[in-house]
Amino acid sequence: MHFLGHFPQTRMRRARGAPWLRRLVEENTLRPQDFVLPLFVKEGEGQSEPIPTMPGIERLTIDRLLEKIEEAKKLGILAVALFPVVDPSRKSPGGEEALNPENLICRAIRAVKKAHPNIGVIADVALDPYTTHGHDGLWHPDPLHPDGGIVLNDESVERLCQQALVQAEAGCDIVAPSDMMDGRVGAIRKALDAKGFERVCILSYAVKYASAFYGPFRDAIGSRAHLGQGHKRGYQMNPANSDEALREAALDVAEGADFLMVKPALPYLDVIARVKSAFGLPLFAYQVSGEYAMLKMAHGAIDWEAALLESLVAMKRAGADVIISYGAIEAIRLLEAAGI
Ligand code: PBG
Repeated sequence: MHFLGHFPQTRMRRARGAPWLRRLVEENTLRPQDFVLPLFVKEGEGQSEPIPTMPGIERLTIDRLLEKIEEAKKLGILAVALFPVVDPSRKSPGGEEALNPENLICRAIRAVKKAHPNIGVIADVALDPYTTHGHDGLWHPDPLHPDGGIVLNDESVERLCQQALVQAEAGCDIVAPSDMMDGRVGAIRKALDAKGFERVCILSYAVKYASAFYGPFRDAIGSRAHLGQGHKRGYQMNPANSDEALREAALDVAEGADFLMVKPALPYLDVIARVKSAFGLPLFAYQVSGEYAMLKMAHGAIDWEAALLESLVAMKRAGADVIISYGAIEAIRLLEAAGI
């Protein structure tokens, strides 16, 4: 690319001189179909329960979930990502509830596909909503280990395959392994294909960092207390690394991932850019709970609405094709109000 030109013949401000002109030469534009809306689903009926660390976001019973999706659909949102708030009495060290075809997430998937057949449904593959220790896989305590134990890899992958199958049977369109076990994408692909679910897509949380920005999500699904002083650094990535992100993504591509994800989004725009340029796959960026909370709770100090749109377009500029955002509905409304 050539950047020819000298002042005063060249004046960069000329193209910024009017609203229509700024818009005309804009390089990246947010559109409703860029977004996936994440939603928290809980047991019961007729309830929307606020989440204190995520102002404006609620845990919804299935009937309310269907109404929220109706609202999202009208705004042009094409897909939702569902997360279950599992009753503590149903949690166990092995997370067996994840394999129950009548569990909350499966009932929610069936209800959404029935009421909104044209809305894409994405479900996480990970055990953390279901385990008493809050880990994404099977926890093996070991007092001699500096982390107090480890999450077993291959044993967890086996269970995650079963979880993915149960969700596919319920009608899920995209399974999204968020657990960061090695080899799980290939194993899940094989398990799905063996049962005739070739059409079910895999969105791999290929590049998922061990991040402090997941805090409000863990409040929302009720796993924070279960994890306690524990952490996920034994399987999620070190925030200091980005060469490693390319290796993670390459493995998942080879194992059959349809789509890749980088998560969190805003603190990792460099990683989004690197992954996008190295692989041609559709790339999802997840603006996680803590990113949402940080912007929302700073309102007053900053203009939350402007900061939301600025953050989201920055993700597209970095190379994201799809953005998972708790602020999706609000963002689309703001774009509409701005005449887009
Ligand atoms: C579970 C999962 C997490 C998120 C999505 N799936 C939390 C975690 O790994 O602890 C985080 C999403 C968010 O913070 O919005 N494996």
